[in-house]
Amino acid sequence: MKDKIKNVQSLEELQSLYAETFGKNGTMTAKLKTVATLSNEERAVVNAENTELRQLFKDKQIELENAALNAKLATEFVDVSLDTQPENRGTLHPLTQSLKELSAILESFGFTLWTGPEIEDDWHNFTALNTPEYHPARDMQDSFFMENGNVMRTQTSSIQIRAMEKTGAPIKMFAVGSTYRKEMDATHAPMFHQIEGLYIDKNVTMSDLIATLRAMLSRFFERDIEIRIRPSYFPFTEPSVEFDMKWDDGKWLEMGGAGMVHPNVLKNCNINPDEYQGFAFGFGWDRMAMLKYDLNDLRKFYDGDIRWLKNSGF
Ligand code: PHE
Repeated sequence: MKDKIKNVQSLEELQSLYAETFGKNGTMTAKLKTVATLSNEERAVVNAENTELRQLFKDKQIELENAALNAKLATEFVDVSLDTQPENRGTLHPLTQSLKELSAILESFGFTLWTGPEIEDDWHNFTALNTPEYHPARDMQDSFFMENGNVMRTQTSSIQIRAMEKTGAPIKMFAVGSTYRKEMDATHAPMFHQIEGLYIDKNVTMSDLIATLRAMLSRFFERDIEIRIRPSYFPFTEPSVEFDMKWDDGKWLEMGGAGMVHPNVLKNCNINPDEYQGFAFGFGWDRMAMLKYDLNDLRKFYDGDIRWLKNSGF
């Protein structure tokens, strides 16, 4: 019996041998049933055999289990030196990235960030900006109107009104956000993004505006940027200008609008125009991102196509 146990090759074999020995009809079971009738010496022999056999079964079981584990370890080897799957890391969208850069620049100039609602009322988007109903300038921006007379804000200029209403003058703020107009081609999307700057104090002049725009663009594009201003028209600034910057190929690129805040706008926000004056500017930050990162189709910004982002170096 002892040899039989020692020669067992598998756990299954061991299990059936155990059943033959200690099972209901097992040989050892039968012997143990008789111990009550045996002499002390005979009983001692049976008990000793019982203990020994049980130990042998136990040892054999451990031996076979270890062998099985070792065999498994040998075949299921993990090669830690193998190449892993390529890791895909997320990156910031070019728009988010350029917004962060622009915000950091304006904050370093002392401008404070403001936000406002994307669905605006008529007052903040038009009227307070010196653009009353029937003013022809409302046609400059093909607006999405709601049935209740509200509008998807056409410009972040609405936020400068909210800021001035709230804090009065002096004020140095900027605002960023989505803006909406009915237009769609490679350089215009129905939803785009603007940045707006406003600086009102007692001695703010056009020179401050020009210096701010130039410093902002130079910092953003990381080189000395030449700018020029051209006379233009916005209802909420007087004088009004458009500002261009000179690009690498020597061409002038139109960047945005600006001007000295119209006295009517200040009055609408309870600021005394005889005491305070200042400038405002607004431009599309999508355009800035396109130029900086050399991207040529604005619509791609909103497609969510990860291959385009990757191919563009993001
Ligand atoms: N709101 C104007 C636009 O959307 C830009 C602008 C902002 C012009 C501030 C002047 C001052 O075109």
